Amino acid sequence: MFALSGNAYTGQKTLKEPTSTLVEVGSPSSDDTPLALRNDQHILEDSKTSTIEPSLTGSDVVPDPLLEDLERVMADITLKDEPADKEVDRATLLVQASLFKQEAEFQRVMVYRDRGWNHNKDKGDTFFKAQRENADKADDEGEQRFYKMMIKIAHDLDSTTEALHPPVLAGRNIKVMDICMAPGGYSAAVLQMHPGAEIFGLTLPKNEGGHSMVLPINKLRGIKYADVTMLASEMLKGTDKTVPKSYPDSAKFNPLRPFVSHKMDLVFLDGIVLRTHERASYRQQNEPLRLSTAQLVLGMQRLTQGGTLVMLMHKVDSWASVNVIYTFSKFATLHLFKPKSAHATRSSFYLVARNVDVESPLAAAAVAEWKNKWYNATFGGPVGTGGDVPEPEDTVVLGILRTFGERLIQMGIPLWKIQADALAKSVYAGDVPSAPGRKKESQSEV
Ligand SMILES: C[S@@+](CC[C@H](N)C(=O)[O-])C[C@H]1O[C@@H](n2cnc3c(N)ncnc32)[C@H](O)[C@@H]1O
Repeated sequence: MFALSGNAYTGQKTLKEPTSTLVEVGSPSSDDTPLALRNDQHILEDSKTSTIEPSLTGSDVVPDPLLEDLERVMADITLKDEPADKEVDRATLLVQASLFKQEAEFQRVMVYRDRGWNHNKDKGDTFFKAQRENADKADDEGEQRFYKMMIKIAHDLDSTTEALHPPVLAGRNIKVMDICMAPGGYSAAVLQMHPGAEIFGLTLPKNEGGHSMVLPINKLRGIKYADVTMLASEMLKGTDKTVPKSYPDSAKFNPLRPFVSHKMDLVFLDGIVLRTHERASYRQQNEPLRLSTAQLVLGMQRLTQGGTLVMLMHKVDSWASVNVIYTFSKFATLHLFKPKSAHATRSSFYLVARNVDVESPLAAAAVAEWKNKWYNATFGGPVGTGGDVPEPEDTVVLGILRTFGERLIQMGIPLWKIQADALAKSVYAGDVPSAPGRKKESQSEV
């Protein structure tokens, strides 16, 4: 039973279950098991209507030991790392069960998230409400602070991962595309490191709710103000699809293909869905997926062979993140990075993909898949304004956990440690009650 009492999981490794690796949990041949399971189920269903005596019984169905194991863990976990009323998709629950079973740092994060979202809900709500209000009314001073924070994050990112020094340069000036650029801290850091850098930016116009630029635009080779999720020509390139005429906002799609004649050594995808971005009601639910897939498609279609891509992501333990990280692992060298100096209490982190083999069939397949997802999230569903995000089969999730789970844990540990340590000191999830004079978390983070 994984129910927690006191601080059982907030300290050292205290797993009561054996800390077997995922590879050990499934037998070497069990990769084939899910298929056998599906086939057997199919035969059993057919047998209901058959006049022939069924030759199989439920006890003949070969269960997948990994699935059984994770379902047990899922049933035992009493922690909720989201608000109680938020539904978590099954694929994420499977991923989390697997991490929870194996890794104490992940358990610590879950305990603190549960405290913040559920046990200390009132404190957490008050804290985040104030933080949201601050972010939404960000004035010039706020933008300046945010800009400086982003410059610092970029330097930390580079000193840990060399993200701002792509290996492809060979002495020439670096070319950078900064997608979701404002206020421009990342590009400012690039210019500090590479004074001759040619930088091309794209960012949401301020009159649509985007951030203002602080980096002077005369330092750039080019800048476009546009909503990246509406670049239909970019998203539909190479497909046989078009924007359906029935779509209520079809005139808002943008035929622009920004900086299409350039190949970039480094692309930043740093978009985050903003509350200040006014959108039709049908563009609420799927917007995070529309934004991430749009950035991925545009970024990959501009990146040079062997270049570097940096992407802001959320929750390394969510299926959405695992899927993207795993996809990049097939054609790039990966690092995950979480700054300690900002957003430490949050689940956000950066994926740094270096030596990206954009010309490989695996990369092409990934881009095609992201285009499909963008299309479905935009035009799918019964009324054509965005369908539900399809859930993967359990077998797909288990397959990735088997082959990639160990690596995911190794990459995730430093991130969970930073977040758990920061949450331990927070007023809403921390170990110590807040006391007068104790440093409060910054409320100026956006
Ligand atoms: C975290 S900030 C980026 C900070 C930036 N990387 C820096 O270093 O200063 C997120 C940015 O995404 C932009 N953004 C959000 N939604 C967007 C969209 N649909 N299209 C283009 N930009 C968008 C916001 O306006 C904001 O500038």
